[in-house]
Amino acid sequence: MLRRTRTKLLRLFIAISFCLVSLQTGDAAEAHHAMVASEGAEASQIGLDVIEHGGNAVDAAVAVALALGVTNSASCGIGGGGFMLIYWAKDHKLYALDYRETAPKAASADMYFRNGKPVEELARTGALAVAVPGELAGLDAALRRFGTMPFSSLVAPAVKLAREGFVLSPHMARDIAFSASQIVKDPGFRAQFFDAAGAPLKAGARVRAPGLAALMDGLGDQPVERFYHGATAAQIAAFIKASGGILTTDDLANYRPVWREPIHLRYRGYDLYTMPPPSSGGIVLEMFGMIAPGHTEGLGLNSPAYLAQLIEIMRQGFVDRDRYGDPAFVKVPVAELLSPAHLSEARQQALHHLTVPNIASARDHGTSNFCIVDKAGNVVDVTTTINTIFGAKIMVPEAGLILNDEMDDFAVAPGVPNAFKLVQSQTNAIAPGKRPLSSMSPLIALRGRAPAMVVGASGGPTIITGVLQVGLNILDFGLSPEAAVSAPRIHEQSQPPTVFTEAAMPATTIGALRQMGYPIKVVPELGAVSAIRITPGMLDGAFDPSKGGGAVGN
Ligand code: GLY
Repeated sequence: MLRRTRTKLLRLFIAISFCLVSLQTGDAAEAHHAMVASEGAEASQIGLDVIEHGGNAVDAAVAVALALGVTNSASCGIGGGGFMLIYWAKDHKLYALDYRETAPKAASADMYFRNGKPVEELARTGALAVAVPGELAGLDAALRRFGTMPFSSLVAPAVKLAREGFVLSPHMARDIAFSASQIVKDPGFRAQFFDAAGAPLKAGARVRAPGLAALMDGLGDQPVERFYHGATAAQIAAFIKASGGILTTDDLANYRPVWREPIHLRYRGYDLYTMPPPSSGGIVLEMFGMIAPGHTEGLGLNSPAYLAQLIEIMRQGFVDRDRYGDPAFVKVPVAELLSPAHLSEARQQALHHLTVPNIASARDHGTSNFCIVDKAGNVVDVTTTINTIFGAKIMVPEAGLILNDEMDDFAVAPGVPNAFKLVQSQTNAIAPGKRPLSSMSPLIALRGRAPAMVVGASGGPTIITGVLQVGLNILDFGLSPEAAVSAPRIHEQSQPPTVFTEAAMPATTIGALRQMGYPIKVVPELGAVSAIRITPGMLDGAFDPSKGGGAVGN
């Protein structure tokens, strides 16, 4: 923890001191034509290679997502699902693709109750936790609408990584060690991530995933037909049934991604666009909207007075998150929640009691975010997940397919917190075919008709507050993406009544917040954010150093 905190502080210092004019590292880059910033250095390079071979940002996004599903399989993969936000330069329009997992048809609101009591662990670990994966259906839909390359050529680099092996990153090694007691019993996990003596592999070890390589290689140019139907679907459903789950071949065959209308907020000369529900993008916009009228002007970045305002605004945003859910099942009043009247009321509610004195685990879970800009100016922002680390912690044998535990993103029962300590409302109760509410909130900011910034994050509910803070750091404080993602962050989600603060936050600031009466819990890090700032002729991107990864461009 100390080492990572020091790294973060050091990087922030370097970033601010040298204004980043020419700094090039694994996490940050400057470029003139195209850029990929993701949680995997190899995945980022694969995305850039696609663009250099004539592909566009959507082609690259498909290749990056598939590669990350191999190298960062604790966080994401074809056993999960995600959101893709696209800015299409030709028509200057935004497009939002939802390929979130859905509850199986046999799911019910009381499916995790035993003897009248909710058993949360059933929603997190094992076959009953698995929701219908959407990843491949989503990537296929994006490719069909905007892509130029065949799926088989975009999956090939991921197949190669899985077949020939990849070098285990420090972050993945930590995830393996963290989950070792749960996954070591599974023969698939054991073969892939443990040595002959049963010890978790360390960073730098070579990892192969031959089953996953064969599965992906077999998808050819018909990923939906060959995953959601036929032998693979039968294999997945049979494994889940034998393991006590409820997901069937019909659930797989009936899965559909959904193109949705992006939602928007005007913020200080920028147009902010994000995913609509079941994403929490609207909550990020609401937080920006509560800040907008100048409440933070004149307050220094990460000054106690500034952070106190953020804390109150975050708390109020999470209160309104209770009104969010799958729009096919509940009416989410997004327009009302983003209306000037509500924003003003929410701002007053958030800040009415705030008197700023005159003083100068939230551990990252699964999920992965990446941002891409191509030569034509198209922008793609993807957040993808299998939910918690290694999802349901089960792997379909032979196929090497790690299955999500996205069912835990629903409210398992009133008052029962999920893995992220979110206590959620009835709007996010389980129902057959419903999508669980997600914190994943990719965001693209336009200035005029041109993109100015793309930002997204991983880390459960810290995604919402991470996107907000990094967005503010870039748009309001003028930081470069590297400095913006390196700056220490806070997180408040209403329940539990705690303000989480990254350990890299100066002790004097933490002390000042405590003096104001905030219950502070210091944690190593709060999620991981990637961002690209786009100015004419210049792309400036970074990935949060806390999770490794890389930004590359040309
Ligand atoms: N699985 C984390 C999220 O979607 O919020």
